[in-house]
This record gives sequence, C-alpha cells and structure tokens, in this order.
Amino acid sequence: MSTRETEDKYLVPTYTKMPLTVVKGEDVWVIDDKGNKYLDLYAGHAVCNIGHSHPKLVKAITEQAKKLIFYSNAVYNDTRAEAAEMVVKNAYPHSAAVFFCNSGTEANETALKIARRATGRPRVIAMETGFHGRTIGALSVTGKQKLRDDFPENLSHITDFVPLGDFDTLEALMGPDVAAIILEPVTSVGGVRIASRKYYDSLRELCVGNGTALIFDEVQTGFGRTGAMFAGMHWDVEPDICTSAKGAGGGFPVGMVILNEAIANAPAPGEHGCTFGGGPLAMAAVKANLEVMLAEKLVENAAAMEVVVRDALGSIPEVLAVTGKGLLLGIELECPAKPVIENLMEQKIIVGGCDRPNMIRLLPPLTVKEEHIKKFASALSSALAAVKQSA
Ligand SMILES: Cc1ncc(COP(=O)(O)O)c(C=O)c1O
Repeated sequence: MSTRETEDKYLVPTYTKMPLTVVKGEDVWVIDDKGNKYLDLYAGHAVCNIGHSHPKLVKAITEQAKKLIFYSNAVYNDTRAEAAEMVVKNAYPHSAAVFFCNSGTEANETALKIARRATGRPRVIAMETGFHGRTIGALSVTGKQKLRDDFPENLSHITDFVPLGDFDTLEALMGPDVAAIILEPVTSVGGVRIASRKYYDSLRELCVGNGTALIFDEVQTGFGRTGAMFAGMHWDVEPDICTSAKGAGGGFPVGMVILNEAIANAPAPGEHGCTFGGGPLAMAAVKANLEVMLAEKLVENAAAMEVVVRDALGSIPEVLAVTGKGLLLGIELECPAKPVIENLMEQKIIVGGCDRPNMIRLLPPLTVKEEHIKKFASALSSALAAVKQSA
C-alpha cells in the first residue's frame, strides 16, 4: 500500500488533506515522496516559524535527547527552568509565570479554567469569528456555530459571541458574572481580521473595570507571526492571560499559558497539571526556537516581509485586499479561493484557505525572503489567469 492508502486506512478520518506526501523539509521548502520541491507559504500550518528543521533546533533536540528525554514536573529540570525564564522575559511586560502544556486547545482550556478560578465567575465573551480549538472547553468559545452544533453538549450556553471590533455590543453584554473575554488579537481561520487600536484599548479598560480576565489566544499570532513577538504588543495592549502553541517550539509540540502578575498565583498547587507539559525535550525546542528567532531577527523580518507582500500583490487586479499583520495575511480575491489554491499547489506552492471563501491565507515561515514572495506573486497571477480561463 502507498503512504496515502495506509494513512487513509489506519487513521481516524478527521482531516481533509492536501494531495501531498511530505517527507523532508528545509527552511521555506518541503520535499515530497517523489523528490519534488514545494515552496511552503503555510509553514506546516503556521507552526514552523523558524523554517523547517532549522539546524540549531535539530542540534538542541538531539543533544537534549541524549541527556534526558523526559521527566515530569514532579522534579526540577535545568532546561525547563531556562525555557520558562526565556519565555516570560520575551512575553508581555507584566508577564510573571508560564504553564506548559502540549497544544493550543489545551492552552486555551487551561486559560479558561484559570480565569474562572481567579474570578469565581462562569461566563465568557468570545468572538463570532474566533477559533480556539477542538476540545470541549475551547470548542465552547469557538465562534463557528457549525463546529459547536456538531457537538451540542458543550459550554456555549455560558458564552456570548460578538463580532470582533464591535465594542458597544460587547460592552452591553459585560456583567459581574463574566470571567473572561477571549479573542485572537488577529483572527486567522475565521477570516483574517483585525480591529482598531481603540478597540483593543477599550477591551483592556473594560476588563480592568469589571474584574474580568482578558485572554489573548496567541496560539497562532505568538512567537513573531504578526511582526511583534506577541500581537498585542502592536497596540501596547497586554492581556491577563496569553496562550500560545504553534510557533512556540519550531514544530515540536508545545503549548503554553503565560500569566501576568495579578493572576499568576490563581491556580493553587494540585489544581491543574499536565504530565508531558514542560518535558525537557520540548523545553530544549522552546529555547532553541526563541534563540534562533532573536539571533536571526525573524520578528523584524515578518514585519518587513508584510510590506513586500503588500507591494507585490498591489498590482494584481483580482486581489481586492490584503488583510492581517506581519506574516499572518489574508488575500481577498474577486473569485473563489479554492481553485486558485489548487492551481498554486500544481505550481508547487503551498498556501492555505480560511472560512472566507474568497480568501487565501499566507502563513509562511518567518525566514521567508523577497525572492520567495516574488515567486508567489507571479504564480498567483498565473493561477488567477488559468482559473479565469477555465471558468
Ligand atoms: C487561534 C488558535 N487557537 C487554538 C488552536 C488550536 O490549537 P491546536 O490545534 O494546537 O489544539 C488553533 C489551531 O489552529 C488556532 O489557530
């Protein structure tokens, strides 16, 4: 059986896959089982921010594996201590402590639990276009009704959903029983959207006034993706709880919940835990990932490459708008995105879609260069022409 047939037979069929079998990766490139090279402007799903299999990450994981692969939080560990200090020091100015887990959804579950613990309140306000994960708690605050309705036994009866950017509606729903507001500072899969500086400022103020925890889900926006280490830094707006995952370990599975001073001691010993969270191998990855990001100035590069993308796509008439920030960008087309994405794949360029049918999502490694963006812009023009011709 081929790899595809074997996966289709033995894996639970929860994913619709791209027609691609990836066997190797190097920086912004991935190679398939036939030796074809693809330009990956999707970063393995917004994960490989420092590029695929960065040699420094490989070295760090290899050296740690030889020393100690795993011991839980029942003991102290030097690599975990160093990674925790590094994360907190590179996070928001009032960040005080981090809890490590293994994925984005788990980070959001933890954040919601801590916010409820800290405030003693049940309700949450979330965004209609927000996505926070697939487990029951995270699903309960995910905006897309279809995803929640498929599993109606969730906690969305204690969640209110509001449009991102509509402060008046949100303010009207605020009350003494609201534990948290959760949002992606830049929404991604729900359609790449961003609100005004005033909106983020007002959210912060409202939460302070109401004793509500502000949770930024930076599972995708964290670790440089938007051209700042964390997205709220663009507006100097700091959450009480910041979750992150995808880009945090360079591809090694890791999730994290970063708490500010006020909330850092909310969970008492024994109230929360995660066996694999903070494992030495994952912590070696977190450290190396951050070290590379800082040494290679990848956050700055994400900001610079946004300008290059906007310039390169500005002259393509079928591109109606480019939304988002840094290297989390939505390209709004005048036609459906699906056939364009398929054509780009035929041209060996990987990009993503999202909940907006006319939008392509660009989430490249933050190591991407002008030459790659130019190659993409030219391929996009050809794809649009081909799709138009076949319509
Ligand atoms: C903003 C956001 N939050 C949470 C998640 C869930 O993360 P994970 O798939 O690691 O559980 C995702 C995944 O796409 C995401 O984009």
